[in-house]
Amino acid sequence: MKLKIALLAGDGIGPEITDQAVKVSDTIAKKFGHEITWRPALTGAAAIDAVGDPYPDSTHEICASSDAVLFGAIGLPRFDNDPSAPVRPEQGLLKMRKKLGLFANIRPTFTFPSLIDKSPLKRERIEGTDLVFFRELTGGIYFGEKGRRDGGETAFDNCVYSRFEVQRLAKKGFEMAMTRSKRLCCVDKANVLETSRLWRETVQAMEKEYPDVEVSYELVDAVAMRLVQWPNSYDVLITENLFGDILTDEASVISGSMGLMPSASVGSKVSLFEPIHGSYPQATGLDIANPLATILSAAMMFETGFGLHQEGAAIREVVNKSLEEGIVTEDLAGDNKAYKTSEVGEWLVNNL
Ligand code: IPM
Ligand code: MN
Repeated sequence: MKLKIALLAGDGIGPEITDQAVKVSDTIAKKFGHEITWRPALTGAAAIDAVGDPYPDSTHEICASSDAVLFGAIGLPRFDNDPSAPVRPEQGLLKMRKKLGLFANIRPTFTFPSLIDKSPLKRERIEGTDLVFFRELTGGIYFGEKGRRDGGETAFDNCVYSRFEVQRLAKKGFEMAMTRSKRLCCVDKANVLETSRLWRETVQAMEKEYPDVEVSYELVDAVAMRLVQWPNSYDVLITENLFGDILTDEASVISGSMGLMPSASVGSKVSLFEPIHGSYPQATGLDIANPLATILSAAMMFETGFGLHQEGAAIREVVNKSLEEGIVTEDLAGDNKAYKTSEVGEWLVNNL
Protein backbone atom coordinates (compact mmCIF):
# COMPACT_ATOMS: atom_id res chain seq x y z
CA MET A 1 0.00 0.00 0.00
CA LYS A 2 1.16 3.55 -0.70
CA LEU A 3 0.32 5.71 2.31
CA LYS A 4 0.39 9.48 2.64
CA ILE A 5 0.45 10.50 6.30
CA ALA A 6 0.28 14.06 7.58
CA LEU A 7 2.72 14.43 10.47
CA LEU A 8 1.78 17.08 13.03
CA ALA A 9 4.42 16.92 15.74
CA GLY A 10 3.14 20.00 17.60
CA ASP A 11 4.59 21.37 20.82
CA GLY A 12 6.65 20.29 23.83
CA ILE A 13 7.58 16.63 23.62
CA GLY A 14 5.53 16.28 20.40
CA PRO A 15 8.54 16.13 18.04
CA GLU A 16 10.47 13.60 20.18
CA ILE A 17 7.59 11.16 20.55
CA THR A 18 6.40 11.39 16.95
CA ASP A 19 10.00 10.75 15.80
CA GLN A 20 9.82 7.35 17.49
CA ALA A 21 6.41 6.57 16.00
CA VAL A 22 7.76 7.46 12.55
CA LYS A 23 10.75 5.14 13.01
CA VAL A 24 8.51 2.28 14.11
CA SER A 25 5.96 2.90 11.33
CA ASP A 26 8.68 3.01 8.68
CA THR A 27 10.08 -0.28 9.95
CA ILE A 28 6.63 -1.90 9.83
CA ALA A 29 6.03 -0.49 6.35
CA LYS A 30 9.29 -1.94 5.11
CA LYS A 31 8.57 -5.30 6.69
CA PHE A 32 5.09 -5.58 5.14
CA GLY A 33 5.88 -3.94 1.79
CA HIS A 34 4.18 -0.57 2.21
CA GLU A 35 5.49 2.83 1.26
CA ILE A 36 4.88 5.78 3.58
CA THR A 37 5.25 9.38 2.54
CA TRP A 38 5.33 11.58 5.63
CA ARG A 39 3.95 15.08 5.12
CA PRO A 40 5.08 17.30 8.02
CA ALA A 41 2.92 20.32 8.83
CA LEU A 42 2.87 23.05 11.44
CA THR A 43 0.41 23.18 14.32
CA GLY A 44 0.03 24.54 17.85
CA ALA A 45 2.38 27.08 19.40
CA ALA A 46 4.94 26.35 16.71
CA ALA A 47 2.40 27.43 14.07
CA ILE A 48 1.36 30.51 16.07
CA ASP A 49 4.99 31.59 16.24
CA ALA A 50 5.57 30.92 12.53
CA VAL A 51 2.36 32.18 10.94
CA GLY A 52 0.08 33.45 13.75
CA ASP A 53 -2.47 30.61 13.43
CA PRO A 54 -2.37 27.30 15.39
CA TYR A 55 -4.02 25.41 12.50
CA PRO A 56 -3.17 27.27 9.28
CA ASP A 57 -4.96 26.56 6.00
CA SER A 58 -1.78 25.08 4.58
CA THR A 59 -1.79 22.48 7.37
CA HIS A 60 -5.48 21.76 6.80
CA GLU A 61 -4.85 21.14 3.11
CA ILE A 62 -2.11 18.65 3.94
CA CYS A 63 -4.31 16.83 6.49
CA ALA A 64 -7.40 16.77 4.29
CA SER A 65 -5.48 15.31 1.34
CA SER A 66 -3.66 12.61 3.35
CA ASP A 67 -4.71 9.05 4.17
CA ALA A 68 -4.32 9.69 7.90
CA VAL A 69 -2.95 12.24 10.36
CA LEU A 70 -0.45 11.35 13.07
CA PHE A 71 -0.47 13.96 15.79
CA GLY A 72 1.91 14.55 18.71
CA ALA A 73 0.78 17.05 21.32
CA ILE A 74 -0.24 20.66 21.64
CA GLY A 75 0.05 23.42 24.24
CA LEU A 76 2.70 25.46 26.06
CA PRO A 77 2.69 27.03 29.55
CA ARG A 78 3.40 30.51 28.24
CA PHE A 79 -0.15 30.43 26.85
CA ASP A 80 -1.74 28.59 29.83
CA ASN A 81 -0.42 31.22 32.20
CA ASP A 82 -1.84 34.05 30.12
CA PRO A 83 -5.66 33.84 30.09
CA SER A 84 -5.78 36.92 27.85
CA ALA A 85 -3.65 35.44 25.03
CA PRO A 86 -5.55 36.25 21.82
CA VAL A 87 -4.67 32.95 20.10
CA ARG A 88 -4.02 29.72 21.96
CA PRO A 89 -2.41 26.49 20.69
CA GLU A 90 -5.42 24.40 21.81
CA GLN A 91 -7.63 26.38 19.45
CA GLY A 92 -5.65 24.73 16.67
CA LEU A 93 -6.62 21.29 17.90
CA LEU A 94 -10.29 22.23 18.17
CA LYS A 95 -10.29 23.88 14.76
CA MET A 96 -8.62 20.83 13.25
CA ARG A 97 -11.17 18.44 14.81
CA LYS A 98 -14.02 20.57 13.54
CA LYS A 99 -12.65 21.17 10.03
CA LEU A 100 -11.72 17.51 9.52
CA GLY A 101 -15.15 16.44 10.87
CA LEU A 102 -13.59 14.21 13.55
CA PHE A 103 -16.72 13.72 15.63
CA ALA A 104 -15.77 10.48 17.41
CA ASN A 105 -12.73 10.13 19.63
CA ILE A 106 -12.00 6.50 20.40
CA ARG A 107 -9.99 6.09 23.60
CA PRO A 108 -9.28 2.57 24.76
CA THR A 109 -8.06 1.79 28.27
CA PHE A 110 -6.40 -1.53 28.90
CA THR A 111 -3.87 -3.01 31.26
CA PHE A 112 -0.51 -4.53 30.39
CA PRO A 113 0.09 -7.69 32.43
CA SER A 114 3.71 -6.66 33.05
CA LEU A 115 2.64 -3.27 34.40
CA ILE A 116 -0.30 -4.16 36.64
CA ASP A 117 1.69 -3.23 39.74
CA LYS A 118 2.59 0.21 38.34
CA SER A 119 -1.01 1.31 38.63
CA PRO A 120 -1.87 3.12 41.85
CA LEU A 121 -5.01 0.96 41.88
CA LYS A 122 -5.06 -2.51 43.39
CA ARG A 123 -4.36 -5.46 41.10
CA GLU A 124 -7.68 -7.21 41.81
CA ARG A 125 -9.58 -4.06 40.86
CA ILE A 126 -7.97 -3.54 37.48
CA GLU A 127 -6.90 -6.94 36.22
CA GLY A 128 -8.61 -7.70 32.93
CA THR A 129 -9.68 -4.11 32.27
CA ASP A 130 -10.31 -3.57 28.58
CA LEU A 131 -12.74 -0.78 27.92
CA VAL A 132 -13.18 1.82 25.23
CA PHE A 133 -14.60 5.30 25.37
CA PHE A 134 -16.32 6.95 22.45
CA ARG A 135 -16.03 10.63 23.26
CA GLU A 136 -18.05 13.06 21.11
CA LEU A 137 -15.44 15.52 19.82
CA THR A 138 -16.96 18.34 17.79
CA GLY A 139 -19.92 19.52 19.86
CA GLY A 140 -21.10 20.31 23.37
CA ILE A 141 -19.66 22.95 25.66
CA TYR A 142 -16.37 23.04 23.72
CA PHE A 143 -18.08 24.51 20.69
CA GLY A 144 -21.17 26.30 22.07
CA GLU A 145 -21.50 30.03 22.24
CA LYS A 146 -19.16 31.46 24.84
CA GLY A 147 -18.45 34.92 26.11
CA ARG A 148 -18.60 37.54 28.82
CA ARG A 149 -21.27 39.96 29.92
CA ASP A 150 -21.76 42.48 32.73
CA GLY A 151 -18.59 44.25 31.66
CA GLY A 152 -16.63 41.00 31.91
CA GLU A 153 -17.85 40.10 35.42
CA THR A 154 -19.91 37.13 34.18
CA ALA A 155 -18.81 34.41 31.76
CA PHE A 156 -20.76 31.67 29.97
CA ASP A 157 -20.13 28.58 27.85
CA ASN A 158 -23.20 27.00 26.29
CA CYS A 159 -23.57 23.26 25.88
CA VAL A 160 -25.51 22.41 22.72
CA TYR A 161 -26.22 19.03 21.07
CA SER A 162 -28.44 18.03 18.18
CA ARG A 163 -30.09 14.60 17.88
CA PHE A 164 -28.03 14.02 14.73
CA GLU A 165 -24.76 14.59 16.58
CA VAL A 166 -25.75 12.14 19.30
CA GLN A 167 -26.94 9.53 16.80
CA ARG A 168 -23.77 9.46 14.71
CA LEU A 169 -21.58 9.11 17.81
CA ALA A 170 -23.83 6.50 19.41
CA LYS A 171 -23.91 4.50 16.15
CA LYS A 172 -20.11 4.13 16.34
CA GLY A 173 -20.43 2.96 19.95
CA PHE A 174 -23.17 0.42 19.15
CA GLU A 175 -21.11 -0.92 16.23
CA MET A 176 -18.06 -1.32 18.43
CA ALA A 177 -20.16 -3.01 21.14
CA MET A 178 -21.37 -5.54 18.55
CA THR A 179 -17.76 -6.59 17.92
CA ARG A 180 -16.97 -6.89 21.64
CA SER A 181 -19.04 -8.00 24.62
CA LYS A 182 -22.25 -6.34 23.38
CA ARG A 183 -22.44 -4.07 26.41
CA LEU A 184 -22.78 -0.32 26.01
CA CYS A 185 -22.91 2.32 28.73
CA CYS A 186 -24.32 5.76 27.95
CA VAL A 187 -22.74 8.26 30.33
CA ASP A 188 -24.70 11.44 30.96
CA LYS A 189 -26.13 13.75 33.61
CA ALA A 190 -29.76 13.30 32.65
CA ASN A 191 -30.97 14.12 36.15
CA VAL A 192 -29.86 17.73 35.63
CA LEU A 193 -28.96 18.59 32.03
CA GLU A 194 -31.32 18.96 29.09
CA THR A 195 -28.59 17.96 26.60
CA SER A 196 -28.13 14.76 28.61
CA ARG A 197 -31.85 14.04 28.39
CA LEU A 198 -31.60 14.37 24.61
CA TRP A 199 -28.63 11.97 24.65
CA ARG A 200 -30.54 9.42 26.70
CA GLU A 201 -33.73 9.70 24.66
CA THR A 202 -31.77 9.36 21.39
CA VAL A 203 -29.77 6.34 22.54
CA GLN A 204 -32.93 4.68 23.95
CA ALA A 205 -34.59 5.06 20.57
CA MET A 206 -31.59 3.42 18.86
CA GLU A 207 -31.68 0.35 21.12
CA LYS A 208 -34.20 -1.46 18.91
CA GLU A 209 -31.77 -1.34 15.97
CA TYR A 210 -29.25 -3.27 18.07
CA PRO A 211 -31.37 -5.84 19.95
CA ASP A 212 -28.27 -7.84 20.93
CA VAL A 213 -26.61 -4.92 22.72
CA GLU A 214 -27.36 -4.50 26.40
CA VAL A 215 -27.42 -0.77 27.14
CA SER A 216 -27.02 0.82 30.55
CA TYR A 217 -27.48 4.48 31.40
CA GLU A 218 -25.28 5.86 34.14
CA LEU A 219 -24.73 9.32 35.54
CA VAL A 220 -21.29 10.77 34.97
CA ASP A 221 -20.53 11.32 38.65
CA ALA A 222 -21.29 7.67 39.42
CA VAL A 223 -19.17 6.54 36.46
CA ALA A 224 -16.25 8.65 37.72
CA MET A 225 -16.40 6.63 40.91
CA ARG A 226 -17.00 3.16 39.46
CA LEU A 227 -14.28 3.69 36.85
CA VAL A 228 -11.61 3.49 39.53
CA GLN A 229 -13.54 1.03 41.73
CA TRP A 230 -14.41 -1.65 39.17
CA PRO A 231 -13.11 -0.57 35.76
CA ASN A 232 -13.27 -4.14 34.50
CA SER A 233 -17.05 -4.02 34.73
CA TYR A 234 -17.19 -1.66 31.73
CA ASP A 235 -16.82 -2.39 28.03
CA VAL A 236 -17.93 0.34 25.58
CA LEU A 237 -18.84 3.77 26.95
CA ILE A 238 -20.30 6.63 24.94
CA THR A 239 -20.38 10.17 26.17
CA GLU A 240 -20.34 13.85 25.31
CA ASN A 241 -17.23 15.94 24.79
CA LEU A 242 -16.36 17.36 28.24
CA PHE A 243 -17.38 14.26 30.23
CA GLY A 244 -15.25 12.20 27.85
CA ASP A 245 -12.27 14.52 28.24
CA ILE A 246 -12.33 14.18 32.01
CA LEU A 247 -13.17 10.47 32.28
CA THR A 248 -10.49 9.38 29.81
CA ASP A 249 -7.74 11.14 31.77
CA GLU A 250 -9.08 9.41 34.85
CA ALA A 251 -9.15 6.06 33.06
CA SER A 252 -5.54 6.39 31.91
CA VAL A 253 -4.42 5.95 35.54
CA ILE A 254 -5.60 2.35 35.35
CA SER A 255 -2.92 1.40 32.84
CA GLY A 256 -0.14 2.74 35.06
CA SER A 257 1.01 5.74 33.05
CA MET A 258 -0.61 8.44 31.01
CA GLY A 259 2.23 7.88 28.57
CA LEU A 260 0.68 4.65 27.36
CA MET A 261 -2.79 5.37 26.07
CA PRO A 262 -3.43 5.95 22.35
CA SER A 263 -6.48 7.35 20.60
CA ALA A 264 -8.12 7.59 17.22
CA SER A 265 -10.43 10.35 16.05
CA VAL A 266 -12.73 9.44 13.22
CA GLY A 267 -15.42 11.09 11.20
CA SER A 268 -16.49 11.09 7.62
CA LYS A 269 -13.12 11.55 5.92
CA VAL A 270 -9.53 11.28 7.09
CA SER A 271 -8.84 9.92 10.59
CA LEU A 272 -6.39 11.25 13.15
CA PHE A 273 -4.27 9.32 15.63
CA GLU A 274 -2.77 10.85 18.75
CA PRO A 275 -1.71 9.99 22.30
CA ILE A 276 -4.21 11.09 24.94
CA HIS A 277 -1.53 12.87 26.97
CA GLY A 278 -0.48 16.48 26.54
CA SER A 279 2.73 18.22 25.50
CA TYR A 280 4.61 17.70 28.84
CA PRO A 281 6.56 20.96 28.33
CA GLN A 282 8.90 20.41 31.31
CA ALA A 283 10.38 17.43 29.47
CA THR A 284 10.88 19.15 26.11
CA GLY A 285 14.16 18.16 24.48
CA LEU A 286 15.23 15.96 27.40
CA ASP A 287 14.58 12.68 25.57
CA ILE A 288 12.76 11.27 28.63
CA ALA A 289 9.08 11.22 27.61
CA ASN A 290 7.33 7.92 27.06
CA PRO A 291 6.81 7.44 23.30
CA LEU A 292 4.54 4.40 23.65
CA ALA A 293 1.18 6.20 23.55
CA THR A 294 2.16 7.68 20.18
CA ILE A 295 3.57 4.39 18.93
CA LEU A 296 0.36 2.62 19.96
CA SER A 297 -1.56 5.39 18.19
CA ALA A 298 0.40 4.47 15.08
CA ALA A 299 -0.72 0.86 15.64
CA MET A 300 -4.33 2.10 15.72
CA MET A 301 -3.60 4.01 12.51
CA PHE A 302 -2.58 0.83 10.72
CA GLU A 303 -5.60 -1.05 12.08
CA THR A 304 -8.46 1.45 12.21
CA GLY A 305 -7.15 3.81 9.57
CA PHE A 306 -5.86 1.43 6.92
CA GLY A 307 -7.41 -1.92 7.90
CA LEU A 308 -3.89 -3.39 8.22
CA HIS A 309 -4.42 -5.65 11.22
CA GLN A 310 -1.21 -7.67 11.14
CA GLU A 311 0.84 -4.50 11.04
CA GLY A 312 -0.96 -3.04 14.05
CA ALA A 313 -0.68 -6.32 15.94
CA ALA A 314 3.07 -6.49 15.25
CA ILE A 315 3.53 -3.05 16.83
CA ARG A 316 1.49 -3.97 19.89
CA GLU A 317 3.41 -7.20 20.26
CA VAL A 318 6.83 -5.54 20.22
CA VAL A 319 5.60 -2.88 22.65
CA ASN A 320 4.47 -5.62 25.04
CA LYS A 321 7.86 -7.25 24.71
CA SER A 322 9.66 -3.98 25.55
CA LEU A 323 7.51 -3.60 28.68
CA GLU A 324 8.16 -7.17 29.75
CA GLU A 325 11.90 -6.68 29.31
CA GLY A 326 11.89 -3.37 31.17
CA ILE A 327 12.96 -1.21 28.20
CA VAL A 328 10.95 1.71 29.54
CA THR A 329 11.21 5.45 30.12
CA GLU A 330 11.47 6.96 33.59
CA ASP A 331 7.72 7.17 34.19
CA LEU A 332 7.66 3.36 34.34
CA ALA A 333 11.22 2.50 35.39
CA GLY A 334 10.83 2.78 39.15
CA ASP A 335 14.15 1.73 40.72
CA ASN A 336 15.32 0.10 37.50
CA LYS A 337 17.22 1.65 34.63
CA ALA A 338 15.27 4.33 32.78
CA TYR A 339 15.76 4.34 29.01
CA LYS A 340 15.64 7.47 26.87
CA THR A 341 12.74 8.17 24.54
CA SER A 342 14.96 7.55 21.52
CA GLU A 343 16.44 4.37 23.03
CA VAL A 344 12.97 2.89 23.46
CA GLY A 345 12.22 3.74 19.82
CA GLU A 346 15.53 2.25 18.71
CA TRP A 347 14.91 -0.95 20.68
CA LEU A 348 11.47 -1.38 19.12
CA VAL A 349 12.88 -0.90 15.64
CA ASN A 350 15.65 -3.46 16.26
CA ASN A 351 13.17 -5.97 17.66
CA LEU A 352 10.60 -5.70 14.90
C1 IPM B 1 -7.52 16.20 24.88
C2 IPM B 1 -7.00 17.52 25.35
C3 IPM B 1 -7.71 18.64 24.59
C4 IPM B 1 -9.18 18.55 24.90
C5 IPM B 1 -7.17 20.05 24.88
C6 IPM B 1 -5.68 20.14 24.67
C7 IPM B 1 -7.91 21.09 24.09
O1 IPM B 1 -7.14 17.66 26.73
O2 IPM B 1 -7.34 15.88 23.70
O3 IPM B 1 -8.11 15.47 25.68
O4 IPM B 1 -9.64 19.07 25.92
O5 IPM B 1 -9.91 17.95 24.11
MN1 MN C 1 -7.97 15.91 27.72
